[in-house]
Amino acid sequence: MSSSAQSPRSPKSPKSPTGKATSPAPATSPAPATSPAPAAAPAPLSAEAQNAAGILPATHWTEQPLPEEDVNDGASSLGSFNSTTASISSSIFHYREVHGRTYHAEMGRAEAWQPNDQRHLDAMELVHHAVMVTLGGKLFSSPLEPKKVQKVLDVATGAGLWAIDFADEFPNAEVIGTDVSPIQPSWVPPNVKFELEDCNQEWTWPENTFDFVNLRLLVGIVDDWYALFRNAYRVAKPGSYVESYDTGCHMLSDDGTVKEGSALEQWGKVFREGGKKLGRTFTIYEEDLQRKGMEAAGFVDIEFKDIKLPYGGWHSDKELAEIGVWWKMAIEADLEGYVNYIWNNVLGWTPDEAKAFTRHVRRDMNNPNIHGYIMARVAWGRKPE
Ligand SMILES: C[S@@+](CC[C@H](N)C(=O)[O-])C[C@H]1O[C@@H](n2cnc3c(N)ncnc32)[C@H](O)[C@@H]1O
Repeated sequence: MSSSAQSPRSPKSPKSPTGKATSPAPATSPAPATSPAPAAAPAPLSAEAQNAAGILPATHWTEQPLPEEDVNDGASSLGSFNSTTASISSSIFHYREVHGRTYHAEMGRAEAWQPNDQRHLDAMELVHHAVMVTLGGKLFSSPLEPKKVQKVLDVATGAGLWAIDFADEFPNAEVIGTDVSPIQPSWVPPNVKFELEDCNQEWTWPENTFDFVNLRLLVGIVDDWYALFRNAYRVAKPGSYVESYDTGCHMLSDDGTVKEGSALEQWGKVFREGGKKLGRTFTIYEEDLQRKGMEAAGFVDIEFKDIKLPYGGWHSDKELAEIGVWWKMAIEADLEGYVNYIWNNVLGWTPDEAKAFTRHVRRDMNNPNIHGYIMARVAWGRKPE
């Protein structure tokens, strides 16, 4: 295991640059370009629809005094894109900009709701570590036979940290991370490469290619979870495993401390409605999509483990408290980034309105008397021989 259980880390020291060019390389390193205006953002939900979904209006948050102690809303750090990813066509560097944050522009059937700027990449590093802590320091839960693991696919790899750590742990395996956004580091272990691929389209790999397919944190990006697992089944070798780690979006509490109408309760409702509007669900856990998708695709010996992700270190169980501290840090590292796109697109809120909301979320997350958590599930299944 290459990730320390004590602290988040950056990818290991560079060995060699990788990254496959899917188009001819531009003559010079492209600077990230942003569209002048948000690309054709759909109209937000009407006030009636928001009301029917139980979503409180922005004024509910703006009219409540902002917690004064909570002034660190952070600033977006734009323009620090890694220019050495220049081997990829310059067209994919055209980002959409929403309220000062950049997102990957729509490509094929992809619509990214999480920013792809440096601030969010930093948050993803914490998320990676938080997931590792959740899985007891492990990168996967499937019963892999190390000698048989030769070729591995990490779908929607994000900052590529899982792929890099897996490649470190399995130096004889070739690990391929795919994404629509070229945000992965260039200096990675020699057995990792990153490619551009839209996971919502037919995957380009021939059937029976991979010994392990990893699907981690695809919340809000998949337009058909059944098709996703059909793709995974097709490219998996007989006898190999697919694994999916994902979450729900509703903040729950066993003791009623996440109250109806609180910022934490509203969080889940907005994501739920946002997922419906984008056609890419956030209620993966609640809909049992990992198990159902694997089963429908033909995977067998499906197993899963449900895990509570507390927000904050309030839990009396030491392990859950540690998980909670990491998740809170990971979310707080870019709370505004998680909220920006959906609250803008779905509710039509201004940045100030969204900021007022996030301050309430942050305050509640830091209140040890509020015992909120979301559910995560890691599920794995085998393609029959
Ligand atoms: C939350 S990150 C996932 C990160 C990574 N899987 C992990 O566990 O650390 C979501 C990633 O999905 C990518 N993405 C969004 N839509 C996609 C699509 N249709 N196909 C492939 N990647 C997509 C985004 O660019 C982003 O990097």
